[in-house]
Amino acid sequence: MLSRRRLLARVTVVAGAVAGALVSLPVLGFVFGPLTRRAAEVWQPVGAVGDFEIGETVSVTFANSAPLAWSGRVGENTAWLQRRSEGEFVAYSHFCTHLGCPVFWFPDARLFICPCHGGTFYENGDVAVEPPQEPLVRFAVRVREGQVEILTTAAETAV
Ligand code: FES
Repeated sequence: MLSRRRLLARVTVVAGAVAGALVSLPVLGFVFGPLTRRAAEVWQPVGAVGDFEIGETVSVTFANSAPLAWSGRVGENTAWLQRRSEGEFVAYSHFCTHLGCPVFWFPDARLFICPCHGGTFYENGDVAVEPPQEPLVRFAVRVREGQVEILTTAAETAV
């Protein structure tokens, strides 16, 4: 049979565990919640189809899908857009897959070159010269109502 002292000690431990769980659940939700949240996909317009010449690669700017009120220029993203044929567009990230420096398009050589460590990518985004190990990141592109649009992602809950 439990003594009164032991019973109170056990009740105190259980009550402490319940209180601890009640306090820690919101904290755990705050810390791990973003890992389970799915990013929303947003199509961002970058220009009219007629703005782009077949065979050319140009830099385009589009709105950040989750801008903050104070973002300023950081609220804009950029990509390299290629018009390959009448209706085929391809878009690549501006950022090198080595350490994230911006890559530049050299039309005469038909190469993307990263000035940081000399990483070079072919016109199709594949690595031509290391150190990058991965091809340039591609964005999905579509044409809708005469506008070229790039698929971007945004956190579902902007701050
Ligand atoms: Fe581009 Fe290193 S960041 S080659």
